[in-house]
Amino acid sequence: MSAAAGADHARQLPEGADAASPLLEIRGLRVSFTLSDGRRLTAVDGINLSVAPGEAVGLAGESGSGKSTAVGAIMGLLAPNGRIDAGSIRYRGLDLAAKGAPLRRTRWREIAVVFQGSLVALNPVIKVRDQVAEAIELRLGEPAEVAQEKAKLLLHDVGIPEKRINAYPHQLSGGQRQRAMLAVALSCSPAVLIGDEPTTALDVIVQAQILELLDRMRQEYGLGLILITHDLAVIADMCDRVAIMYAGRIVESGSVKEIFSAPRHPYTQALLGAAPDARAGRRTIKVLEGHPPDLSALPPGCHFAPRCPLADARCREEDPPTIEYADQVTLACHRYSLGDGKLPTPIDAPYPTLELGKR
Ligand SMILES: Nc1ncnc2c1ncn2[C@@H]1O[C@H](COP(=O)(O)OP(=O)(O)OP(=O)(O)O)[C@@H](O)[C@H]1O
Ligand code: SF4
Ligand SMILES: [Mg+2]
Repeated sequence: MSAAAGADHARQLPEGADAASPLLEIRGLRVSFTLSDGRRLTAVDGINLSVAPGEAVGLAGESGSGKSTAVGAIMGLLAPNGRIDAGSIRYRGLDLAAKGAPLRRTRWREIAVVFQGSLVALNPVIKVRDQVAEAIELRLGEPAEVAQEKAKLLLHDVGIPEKRINAYPHQLSGGQRQRAMLAVALSCSPAVLIGDEPTTALDVIVQAQILELLDRMRQEYGLGLILITHDLAVIADMCDRVAIMYAGRIVESGSVKEIFSAPRHPYTQALLGAAPDARAGRRTIKVLEGHPPDLSALPPGCHFAPRCPLADARCREEDPPTIEYADQVTLACHRYSLGDGKLPTPIDAPYPTLELGKR
C-alpha cells in the first residue's frame, strides 16, 4: 500500500465540503493586482476550469497569460497586492474564493502544487525525509514516528533511492529534488495535484521521468491533475482536456483529441504551429510574432486582435464572448458564428503558412 494512498480521504474533507460535488470547479474567476501607480491589472479575467478525479487537464499559453495567477488564487497564495474580484473556486462544493474559506493549511491537504525550481521550495537546511515528515505531522496531525515512516514510504514511492532519503536538498540531483517536492505535495493524500511547469528546469530525460511519475501518481491515487506547461506535446501525451489561455482568458478549451486535431481559435492554431510534434503533419516551426498586450491598459475588442491575421473591424471593437459548444468545447472568437451550439468547422485558410503579426 502506498504511503500517500487516498483511501481515507473522504473523512478528511474540510467542513462544508460535500463528497458528491465536483472535485474542483472554477467559474468566472477574476483576479487582479494593484500596481505601484494605483492602477489595477487583471491577470485572470473570468476563467472557467474544472478537473475530475483521475483526470488530467492541461493549461497552456504564453508567458504572462495568467496561469500561475490562477494557481495562486486556488491555493490562497496570491501576492499581497493581488485579490480575487469575482468568481468561485469550488472544491467539492466548498467555495475557496469566498470570505471565510478554509485556511491555506487546510486547503493544502486537499489540493497540492508542485512548482518549477524545487531548490527554492525545499528548505535547504532540513533533510528531505524530515521535510516530508514535517508536512505530514503539521497538516495531518500524525505522531512523529508515524510521519517518519510514511515519509520514508512516500520518498520510496516517488523514486528517491533509500540511501538518499536522509540527504539535504543540495545533495540531490535536480530530478531527485523535484521527486522530493512531489513527495511533499503528496504527503497529505491530496485529491488534486497542480503542476505549475514542474519540469521546466530539467533536462529532457529527467523531464520525461518526472512526467511519467506524475502520470503514475495520477492513476495510482486517482488524483485530478492540472498540468501547466508551455510544451503542447506534453499535454497531447498526458492530458484528457486542454485549456488555452491568452491575456487572462481561456480562449479555447475542450478534449485534447478535439482541440489538437481541429484547433479553431487563431491563437491555438498559432501555438500548435509553433509545436510541430503536437500535431501530426506539421513539420515547419512557425514563430508567433508580436507580444501579449499590456494587461493594465487593454485596448477594446479581442485581446488577440493586434496579432491575429483574421482580425477585422468588429474584432477591434467588440470583445468576443466565450461560447460553449458541443463536446465541452469552448471558444472565444468572432470568426465563429454563435450558431446552434454545434461544433464550428475550423477556419484554416491562413495557417498552412502561418505568419502571425504580418498582416
Ligand atoms: N504581484 C503581482 N503584481 C503585479 N502584477 C503581477 C503580479 N503577479 C503577476 N503579475 C502579472 O500578472 C500577469 C500574469 O502573470 P502569471 O505569472 O500568472 O503568468 P503565467 O501565465 O504564469 O506566465 P509564465 O508562463 O511566465 O509563468 C503578468 O502580466 C504578470 O506580470
Ligand atoms: S475574435 Fe477576431 S481577432 Fe480575436 S481571435 Fe477571433 S478572428 Fe482573431
Ligand atoms: Mg507561471
